[in-house]
Amino acid sequence: MNKQIVLLPGDGIGSEIMESAEKVLDAVAGEFGHSFTLQEHAIGGAAIDQYDTPLPETTIEACQKADAILLGAVGGPKWDALPADKRPEKGLLGIRKELGLFANLRPVKGFPSLLHASPLKEHIIDGSDILIIRELTGGLYFGKPSERQNNGNAVVDTLHYHRDEMERIIDKAFQSARLRHHHLTSVDKANVLESSRMWREIVEEKSKAYPDVVVEHLLVDAAAMKLITQPDQFDVMVTENMFGDILSDEASVLTGSLGMLPSASVRSDGVGLYEPVHGSAPDIAGEGIANPLGTILSVALMLRHSFQMEAEAAAVERAVRECLEQGYYTSDLHITDGQLVSTAQMTEAVLENMTVKSVSD
Ligand code: NAD
Ligand code: IPM
Ligand code: MN
Repeated sequence: MNKQIVLLPGDGIGSEIMESAEKVLDAVAGEFGHSFTLQEHAIGGAAIDQYDTPLPETTIEACQKADAILLGAVGGPKWDALPADKRPEKGLLGIRKELGLFANLRPVKGFPSLLHASPLKEHIIDGSDILIIRELTGGLYFGKPSERQNNGNAVVDTLHYHRDEMERIIDKAFQSARLRHHHLTSVDKANVLESSRMWREIVEEKSKAYPDVVVEHLLVDAAAMKLITQPDQFDVMVTENMFGDILSDEASVLTGSLGMLPSASVRSDGVGLYEPVHGSAPDIAGEGIANPLGTILSVALMLRHSFQMEAEAAAVERAVRECLEQGYYTSDLHITDGQLVSTAQMTEAVLENMTVKSVSD
């Protein structure tokens, strides 16, 4: 099968982890007889430096034509002083909005061999398997520019949600719960926010159409606490844009490192942008030590969700699991036994496991 994939490496460790992803895509193509056409485009700070905008028109057009998109990360100190509209992050928000990628799926499932890499106690995280579904194109992130103000003494950010925007993400969450363990936790701040009250009302309304799904409402502050004290009590979690951003970084602690988490940003027709949950990690950029596994696992999500290549996705995930079982770890994973490796070495270990497996199968 031939697929056109747009690569958006972005900034900081973005290009380092993208190199790993390209190698994995090459290996999948070779092992399974596919052909992936990879086309690289600029986004974020790299695009600002080259084109004076974080999201060039050529990048948007290429993404619109692609079968799927893979993103590294954007942002960094070099561009931090720029006004909001010109920052690298605006490129990422812009491409999500342009493509209508309203559903961000962030699976949080630890690998057994990394249980001891988490600062949390093993018996607390053992058995946790959560799908965080984050609304991605609305809320505080997308307040109208005309309403965003800063006169030096007072600032205004606005939060808009239309009922339809809430309905589609909540529907997606119920459908996902049906494919998993039939439990949905809706997270809001309905004791304070009007938007959360509408959100909760819609979840209640929708639940009538999904009687097989057990629904629980949690306020976001309590949800943050429960996520690291009783993570095995969650199945699917659905929430608005900013709460989802914060809770997913927190949830990464269950897996041992933020560098482990993949994500899929999708719309109803299956078109998707795949990206690790972490950022450009300026503190380690250029050192060749970034953990590439969140990105490699994002490639697996792309194979599964955009290309319906389940066997290929499973092969990538199995290779990652085997590397970790063999004791390879990058410096973000707090492990003392095993072999500390670089980004390139971890990638080689994944490739090795993919090849060995297919030969012996
Ligand atoms: P970050 O996620 O980049 O880093 C947080 C910490 O986690 C750092 O100590 C970093 O070294 C570590 N880390 C993250 N990913 C890692 C990996 N793969 N391997 C090893 N360690 C890893 O968050 P930050 O430092 O708050 O933000 C840095 C920049 O990234 C900012 O400009 C921010 O806007 C941007 N950002 C971008 C994205 C994205 O592009 N999707 C996401 C989050 C943050
Ligand atoms: C993420 C990032 C982005 C977000 C930033 C860089 C705009 O933190 O993908 O989680 O908040 O959505
Ligand atoms: Mn984030």
